[in-house]
Formats: sequence, structure tokens, C-alpha cells
Amino acid sequence: MLPIVTIDGPSGSGKGTIAKLLAARFGLRCLDSGALYRLLGLAARQAGTSLADADRLAEIARSMRVEFEGERVLLDGVDVALEIRTEQAGNAASKVAALPEVRAALLQWQRDYARAPGVVADGRDMGTVVFPAAGTKIFLTASAEERAKRRYNQLNEKGLSANLPDLVAEIQERDERDSNRSVAPLRPASDAFLLESTSLSVDEVLKQVVGQVLKAYPELAEKGGPAG
Ligand code: DC
Repeated sequence: MLPIVTIDGPSGSGKGTIAKLLAARFGLRCLDSGALYRLLGLAARQAGTSLADADRLAEIARSMRVEFEGERVLLDGVDVALEIRTEQAGNAASKVAALPEVRAALLQWQRDYARAPGVVADGRDMGTVVFPAAGTKIFLTASAEERAKRRYNQLNEKGLSANLPDLVAEIQERDERDSNRSVAPLRPASDAFLLESTSLSVDEVLKQVVGQVLKAYPELAEKGGPAG
């Protein structure tokens, strides 16, 4: 059975970090679905398209060429990995992600990404909409303050400027929009494992997630057992 692991949760909950570590440990593909919405926001800006023009955005979503190559994220052949990580790109992503036409346009691309040897997919609706039959579903949360702090450190490490109170406000605003939209709102799947990570280290979170993955896919133990 093709291993499919979904990690959903709000902005800054550490999904991306955990998804990457998990994929590396078990040799699985890693799908950063948030990057797709960030790329679409960027592509729309480049094309001069309004973030509210659902039909045109869906067209761009269907025609943009996306490649993930290690740390590189290519949009129509150009590496924009750094550009899509800004808060501005995150906000644009959250807006285009609220449009049903856009979500429909990106659905099949995401499902097609789940090929051998398997995938770890992180986002908001991986366990609820994109991969409802995934064997392992994690819903990762942390307080808004803790998430803002993590984001602040992440941005600083990348040499991007940030301001903590602004980040808390933006995170709360984005949570609100992601949780209350009509299509695929941020919500744990009924069969998701809920993990509150405010006071946990990355290692502690990873250990629990690895435990969940091995329960569903014991065959992966050969590739990177509990002790790593
Ligand atoms: O995970 P992220 O911060 O890169 O996501 C950016 C935005 O994209 C986020 O505000 C909500 C949206 N998103 C979504 O709606 N569905 C997903 N599966 C992933 C991200």
C-alpha cells in the first residue's frame, strides 16, 4: 500500500518542518501544498491579475508549471523559493486559497503527486479533502503566540525582516480566514491524531509522529525505525 501521511494545521504550527524531517527519514516524497497557493499568489501578481478574479486565477493555477527540487521551488522554471516565503506571499496565498475554483484547479495536481515511494503532505486540507484515505493523519497545533515566535525566528534565519506583534496579528487574521472559509476550511479530519506542540521540541513532535506513521505503515520501520 502506498504510504500517505497528511500533516495539517494552522500557519506556523511546524507542519513544514515535521513533514520534511519525516519524508527524509522514511525516504518519501514531500508535498508542501501551501507552496502551491503561495506560487499562485505570485503568478497572479506577475500577471497583474486581481486576487479576487476566481476564474482567471483558476486558469493560472491549471497552467503554471511547478517543480519541487530539494530546497528549490520552481515556478515556470524560475526558482522563487525565497520570494514565496514572505508574509506578503502568505497573505496572498490565504486569499486565493479561499476560492473554490482555485482549490478545484489544484486538486488533481496534488493527488498526482502521491506516487511511489509515497508522500508526506502538509497543508490545511490534506487529511480532509485531498487524501481522505491517508493511513496516517496528523493535526498539529500550537498557540498563536508560539507560532508567531517560530515564524519570527524562521524569517530572521532567512535574513527577512519581521516584527513580532505584527506577526501575531497576521497569524490570527490568517487563522480566522483559513478556518471560516466555505471550502475546505482548516479543520482536523475525524480520524486525525491531534498533537498540541506549544511546549514540545521538534524532536518530541517528530517522535510522536513517527510512532503514528509506524502504526499505520509498519513496513516503513526498515527505512528509519523509531530510534532513527
Ligand atoms: O502553509 P502555508 O503558510 O504555506 O500556507 C499558505 C496559505 O495557503 C495559508 O494561509 C492557507 C493556504 N493553504 C490552504 O488553504 N490549503 C492548503 N492545503 C495549504 C495552504
